[in-house]
Amino acid sequence: MATNDENQQRQDELIETAGAVLLKNYLQQPTVMARGQGVELFDVSGKRFLDMTAGISVCALGHAHPELSARIAEQAGKLLHTSNLYFIEEQILAAKAITDRSFADRVYFCNSGAEANEAALKLARRYQHVVKGAPNRNLIVSTEGSFHGRSIATVAITGQEKYRKGFGPLLEDVAMVPYGDLGAARTVLEKREACCFILEPIQAEGGIIVPPAGYLQGLRDLCDATDTILIFDEVQTGVGRTGKLWGHEWDGVVPDVMSMAKALGGGVPIGAIGASEKAAEGLTFREGGAVPHASTFGGNPLACSAASTVLRVIEEQGLLANALHVGEHIEKRFNELVQKYPETLLESRGRGLLRGLAMKTLAGPTYRRCREEGLLVSVAGGTVLRFAPALIATTDNVDEAITILETVLAND
Ligand SMILES: Cc1ncc(COP(=O)(O)O)c(C=O)c1O
Repeated sequence: MATNDENQQRQDELIETAGAVLLKNYLQQPTVMARGQGVELFDVSGKRFLDMTAGISVCALGHAHPELSARIAEQAGKLLHTSNLYFIEEQILAAKAITDRSFADRVYFCNSGAEANEAALKLARRYQHVVKGAPNRNLIVSTEGSFHGRSIATVAITGQEKYRKGFGPLLEDVAMVPYGDLGAARTVLEKREACCFILEPIQAEGGIIVPPAGYLQGLRDLCDATDTILIFDEVQTGVGRTGKLWGHEWDGVVPDVMSMAKALGGGVPIGAIGASEKAAEGLTFREGGAVPHASTFGGNPLACSAASTVLRVIEEQGLLANALHVGEHIEKRFNELVQKYPETLLESRGRGLLRGLAMKTLAGPTYRRCREEGLLVSVAGGTVLRFAPALIATTDNVDEAITILETVLAND
C-alpha cells in the first residue's frame, strides 16, 4: 500500500506532467480524480470530495453505479463498434427508449452536445431548403445568454460574446434575441427568414435562468404560424436533470427537435437529437443524393447500451421523484443562506437538481474554496454557484454540502 505522502507525490507528478503535455485550454483545479462512488469522488492523493457537479450534469446515476458499470462491461466484452454501415441492436433499442419516453418519433445519435446541436441546425436548414423549397430561409435565431457548444457553428449561436471572441468570421445568418422576450421573437420570426429557433428550456451555463411562464408556448405558436423549426437544447436540462425527464415538460410544450447529450450516457460520451416525423424529413436520405448527415462513432453499441440503461434505471428507481424532492430541499437550504448572507448572496434559482445560488460577486473564489474544503460545485454565468448532483443524491448529501458551503461563506 502506498503511503499518503507517496499518493500526494504521485498526484503532484501527474499535475506537473499535465502542465508539460496537455494543451493549456482548460483552467483546471489542482486535483486528479482516481475513483468515485455514488456522490463521492476520491483523488489520487486519497482526498474525499462530496460531488455536487456530477461531471457538469453528466453522471445522472452517480459514480460507479453497479447496473451501469455491469452493462457497459458486458457490452465491451461483446461488441464495441461496427459503424453505421449496418444496423446496430443497441442503437435501435436506445432510440426506442427515447421515442417511448418523449415527443420524438425518430432519433439520430452522435457523440456530444455540440454535435447534437450541429445535427439539429443541419436538419433545420435542409428542412427549409429541400423539403419546403425555401432556399432563402437560412437565419438561425438563438437567445442572448445561451450556451450551445464549442464547435465553430455552435459558438456562433451561443449568446455570450466571451465564447465567440477570437474565432471569427463566424457562421453568418444568426440573430440573437433576448431570452424570455416573446415580442423580440415575434419581430424576427414574422419575417419568415428563419429556418429555426434554438433555445434551452432553462439557460444553464448562462446562470440557471428559468424562462417566464408562457414563453415556450408563445414560441411554439410563433414557430407553428411561420413554419419555423423549434429546437430545444436539452443537453443540460434533459434526462431527468430538472426532475422531469425533459426540461420542456415543465411547460407542457413540445419542440420539433431536441438535442441531448451529457446525462444520456451517464458518463459514456453520447449525443442525440430526437425529432418529430415532420422535422425528421430534414435529414432523411434521398435517392441519388449523399447521406445528409452521419457520424463514425454515433450510436455505437457501447454508448447506446449505456443510454438505454440510464433511461431504464431513472424510471425503475424513481429518480425523477427523487430529483424533485432533493431539488426542493436545495432550494429551501439556498433560501436560508440568502437570508443569512444578504451581503454576499442574491437569490436561489432553478428546477429539480439544476440549481443556482446567485452571488453578488464573481463565484470563482467560493468555488475554489469549496473544493479545498472537500465540496465540488461549479460556476455558471460567472456569478452563480451551481449544484447539479447525481439524481441519486439525498437530502443528507445536500445538508453536508450546505454545511461546507456555509463554512466557506462565513469565512469570506
Ligand atoms: C445547453 C448546452 N448545450 C450544449 C452543450 C455542449 O455540450 P458538449 O460539451 O457535450 O459539446 C452544453 C455543455 O455544457 C450545454 O450546457
